[in-house]
Amino acid sequence: MDGIVLLKEDHKTVKRLFREFEKVKGSATPKAKRKLVDQICSELVTHSFIEETIFYPAAREGVPDTADHVLESVEEHHVMAWLLSELQHLDPADETFDAKVTVLIENTRHHMEEEEKEWFPQVRHVLGRNRLVELAEEMAAGKSAAPADPLALTSAAT
Ligand SMILES: [Fe+2]
Ligand SMILES: [Fe+2]
Repeated sequence: MDGIVLLKEDHKTVKRLFREFEKVKGSATPKAKRKLVDQICSELVTHSFIEETIFYPAAREGVPDTADHVLESVEEHHVMAWLLSELQHLDPADETFDAKVTVLIENTRHHMEEEEKEWFPQVRHVLGRNRLVELAEEMAAGKSAAPADPLALTSAAT
């Protein structure tokens, strides 16, 4: 396992949950939507937490060229964190709920795509296998320290 593989696995998990929401949103009960969106929230906050505390700083340090990508990514996390926080407190029966989840899904898909296509490959190339394996271990361990509140992410406050 290396750090980028670990992050891509997280992306896959989140994308699976997104597809699930899209499939059931017309027919699911408010309770079922709450459960699914809480799961999405937890996955995304944990993933963003290890990126912000471990992977992004390591990428910036090892590959200074990625600074702009990292800064843009943090801004994308910022928007995502606030949307997640709204969704945590919003009644799934509210008419704006599905619209907010749809925007969350669109923004996050775009964000993950950019990470995977536009700058992770460069990080992989420069950091190399050993450093990426080290980062995977740090990130796997770091997950347990992730907050439940999206607004506790560093990106939410920037
Ligand atoms: Fe990210
Ligand atoms: Fe990511």
